[in-house]
Amino acid sequence: MCGIVAYIGPEKAGPILFDTLKRLEYRGYDSAGVAIRSDGEIQVLKSAGRIGDLEKVYVGMGMPGDTVGIGHTRWATHGKPSDKNAHPFISGDIAIVHNGIIENYLELRDLLTQAGFEFKSETDSEVLAHLIKMYYHGDLADAVTKAINRVEGSYAVAVVSASSPYLVCARKDSPLVLGIGKDANYVASDVAALLPYTRDIVRMKDGEIVLLYGSKEIEIRDLSGITQTFQTEKIDWNIDAAERGGYPHFMLKEIHEQPRALQETFAGRISEIDGDVQLDLGRTNEEIESLERVSIIACGTSYHAGLLGKYLIPRAAGLPVDVEVASEFQHIQLRPRTLVLGITQSGETADTMISLKKSKTCGVGRLAITNVVGSTVTGLVDGTIYTRCGPEIGVAATKTFTGQLAALFLLAIRLGRARNHLTPDQGRKMLVELTRLPGLVQSVLDKREEIRKVAEEYAGAGCYFFIGRDFLYPIALEGALKMKEIAYIPSEGYAGGELKHGPLALITEKTPVVAMATCGRKIQSNIKEVRARGADVIAFATEGDPDIDKVASTVIELPRTRPVYSAVLCTVGVQLLAYYTAAKLGLPIDKPRNLAKCVTVE
Ligand code: AGP
Repeated sequence: MCGIVAYIGPEKAGPILFDTLKRLEYRGYDSAGVAIRSDGEIQVLKSAGRIGDLEKVYVGMGMPGDTVGIGHTRWATHGKPSDKNAHPFISGDIAIVHNGIIENYLELRDLLTQAGFEFKSETDSEVLAHLIKMYYHGDLADAVTKAINRVEGSYAVAVVSASSPYLVCARKDSPLVLGIGKDANYVASDVAALLPYTRDIVRMKDGEIVLLYGSKEIEIRDLSGITQTFQTEKIDWNIDAAERGGYPHFMLKEIHEQPRALQETFAGRISEIDGDVQLDLGRTNEEIESLERVSIIACGTSYHAGLLGKYLIPRAAGLPVDVEVASEFQHIQLRPRTLVLGITQSGETADTMISLKKSKTCGVGRLAITNVVGSTVTGLVDGTIYTRCGPEIGVAATKTFTGQLAALFLLAIRLGRARNHLTPDQGRKMLVELTRLPGLVQSVLDKREEIRKVAEEYAGAGCYFFIGRDFLYPIALEGALKMKEIAYIPSEGYAGGELKHGPLALITEKTPVVAMATCGRKIQSNIKEVRARGADVIAFATEGDPDIDKVASTVIELPRTRPVYSAVLCTVGVQLLAYYTAAKLGLPIDKPRNLAKCVTVE
């Protein structure tokens, strides 16, 4: 995710802004910038690349500016990484930094263009700078309130003006904390940035607007201007723990970021009224209608996401799908009316890149699902669906996988609607249920203690089995991969129906079996098969299922949703199971042995 910092107090703002920005570097970024008040003007310094390089420029300029400023590290979601897309954005004597997604930015951009504002970037954030400027007549808090009342989407925003005695910040669905110093105030999107300066923080709530003055004074208002009370919290984390948001590992933090990441994947793309989805697929409805096949290529966890596409897209869009591990992709067989879909969170995996390049020679359409704006894969395809999960630091993919599943749900509905395979009403029903998913994922996360106990009970197992059928077969594979990757326990992922064709020979009373049981009843026969061989079965099942207790030894209940969406809920369950197993075994969860986050060799 992008990072925000701000400072107002007695010291020179520049050095503090650069120092706090560097404390956010661990989150990953592609560009950085600061806006500092200087002799009654706002001076902006920003560029693509490293904060350290930008700081050298600042020092070379003689460290201009006075005691008020804002800063930002950007991780691109709208518009590629570049100098002009870096924050802060300026409009007259106002500068802003923004995290989140402005869903109605196109509409606001038109309105502001007609009002004479000139846009210099490809970002959604720049509309906020001009909108605040449009409303600014000497009262910055009032202007920010009016502007954000026009905005749909999510934001954490910090605003500075050359002529205002205070800084303003506001938040909705994107984190922002205030740091209360001895005689200064700070703002950051992440506590880690503030710890050397203060341990007294206030966590902002959605719908709050804060005025920060250059003394200890702060005022918090709601969106109607009514002053709010607030509580200060003392942080006793060390810097390492703060970077992980207080979680012991990045992987656990990223697992918990999934509700928010899913909201970002959906933001601005769903039209419930039309029962349709807006995506950049790089092709017209007519071209989509004429497609004959989708060929998915990916590696590892991304391949498992692709496998879910194989169950999903034929049903939603009437298109056959094949899925290939990228290193085994046989491009020779591609026919012209095929859409090749590369799925890769990093956008850099060598096997996937090479296969996509080879597929070009067959004259097929190409599309990517990735998490990284401007990554290599985006240059190889006609259209890209960004998952917008924010950077993932743990080597084991978690939030980027559920982001890929969410992107596939959107893609399947878009293809289905474009090909008239889904009616508007069918699309609408699927989308209404889809928007519940972030909340349902949160309910699974709320069961972490229950899952931790199960994980610890079986942490000594020599071998694990994960089974599922239909939409849940890919999740069985993903559960087994997670257990192998971070807990180093040999684990098999199987389609339930395949057990009796061989692997049943491995099942004993020492082989815990994890059954994904939220989709259809046939899996219960497979549970009985392994129970008859003495195995314990941990079942992820839909709450209120009348029969599952009779067959499984442990049942973890998940909220009710469409079977296909329950794949996401089961995913969160197996992620937590693998995580707590590895934690119990004391393993280096974020950096498992022999593995790299991005595999750039064939
Ligand atoms: C997942 O936990 C793994 N780290 C790995 O399998 C990964 O999914 C694979 O290397 C593909 O990476 P990509 O999504 O960046 O292409």
